Amino acid sequence: MKRVMIGDAIKEGKGKVQLWGWVHRQRNSNEMAFIVLRDASGIIQCVIKKAEVDNESWIAATKANVESSMEILGELKKDERAPTGFEIVAEKVRFIYKGDAFPIAKDLSPEFLLDVRHLWLRSQYLSSIMKIRSTVTGAIHEFFRLHGYFEFTPPIFTPAACEGGSTLFEVKYFENKVYLSQSWQLYAEAAIFALEKIYDVSPTFRSEKSSTSRHLAEFWMAEMEAAFMDYKECSEVAKDEVQFIVKSVLKKNQEELKILKRDVSKLEPAATKKFPTLTYTQVLKMLKEKRGLDVKWGKDLRTIEERELMSMFDTPVIVTHYPKEIMAFYKPVDAEDKEAPRPVAKCFDMLAPETYGEIVGGSERDTDIEALKQALEAGGEKVENYDWYFDLRRFGSVKHSGYGLGVERVIAWICGLENIRDAIPFPRTMDRWKP
Ligand code: 4AD
Ligand code: MG
Repeated sequence: MKRVMIGDAIKEGKGKVQLWGWVHRQRNSNEMAFIVLRDASGIIQCVIKKAEVDNESWIAATKANVESSMEILGELKKDERAPTGFEIVAEKVRFIYKGDAFPIAKDLSPEFLLDVRHLWLRSQYLSSIMKIRSTVTGAIHEFFRLHGYFEFTPPIFTPAACEGGSTLFEVKYFENKVYLSQSWQLYAEAAIFALEKIYDVSPTFRSEKSSTSRHLAEFWMAEMEAAFMDYKECSEVAKDEVQFIVKSVLKKNQEELKILKRDVSKLEPAATKKFPTLTYTQVLKMLKEKRGLDVKWGKDLRTIEERELMSMFDTPVIVTHYPKEIMAFYKPVDAEDKEAPRPVAKCFDMLAPETYGEIVGGSERDTDIEALKQALEAGGEKVENYDWYFDLRRFGSVKHSGYGLGVERVIAWICGLENIRDAIPFPRTMDRWKP
């Protein structure tokens, strides 16, 4: 008989099936055994009656440790009392591989669960997140391809910083030293002259020297870059992309959101409403007037300020025009701005609702070589490392913009996670790089 997935068997609702999977739960009395079997598509309860199966089946059903792999043949029936509303009355039960005693039971410490991450991945909690993660990255590819973008892949070994030297990971590269990529951006800026509209989803590395619930040392960034585009149009693309992602998850992952106990009503506004745009200077005013929070103009928004701001909204919000003095070297001054006390940049962040904060960072790119050199020097970078980058301004330069979306930040928000590390299969943080 051919193997059937549990999810397909439940959809069919009746008939004789052969299942292959892993023991999620097991209990037995003298006459009856219950195995909840799990495969990638779901779980189902199987009843094994001693009087109705062969001896080998009865031994397998009663000796099965959690996570043993098993083959179960039986008749699928509706049963209101079973966890998924259906039950298998087993005719034959066989070990595929009898497992040792599984080390994960209930109520273990988060640190232990991280130590056995390779086994904890099988939990309904993590596998639901990984299914949503697959929808999120799939939606990103779909969104950009639908809008005429080419996928463009950047190098991961890089000779210089994009986002400042302090978070670079150094790697021995034969007799030299290079760094792991902090962003595809400088290479994307080279590629727009060939392809105009490009995107990627790639691993990104930052040696963040603090353990927070929002920072990983290795994460995935989905970035885009487009020729002839200003920062305003670019921020509209970011709004559309995030809305597209949320819609896709709401359409495809209701089951997983339920397992994660996510309050879906908190996500729905992001799928339907327009996201507001504010300037940094307006944000400081709102924080002062509505929350009594005094942020000095020129300071970056801290987690607590982002949280206070976002408690006033139920959709993501775009914040534009941060002070030039705290921005990366490539973000140009907006000479037309009249609102701010000091120069601001043509840049934007997108902040997520609830407590999730920044999920997207983007900007127009400075096309003035002198301004770029000055900003690099002010940031303590070696200007000569960027000579190739200045070439992009020398040969047919055009206005262009781009942004990066933190894939795990978006997943953490959509899934309602307490900590970003559960948004990635094997998290790497300052104090965690194993298994
Ligand atoms: O704001 P960032 O630093 O922007 C850039 O790197 C630009 N070069 C992107 C571009 O314009 N092409 O990073 C972009 C996003 C952040 O908004 C955040 O969501 C995520 O990447 N991010 C992190 N996610 C997890 N852990 C970290 N340590 C992160 N650092 C940034
Ligand atoms: Mg940023």
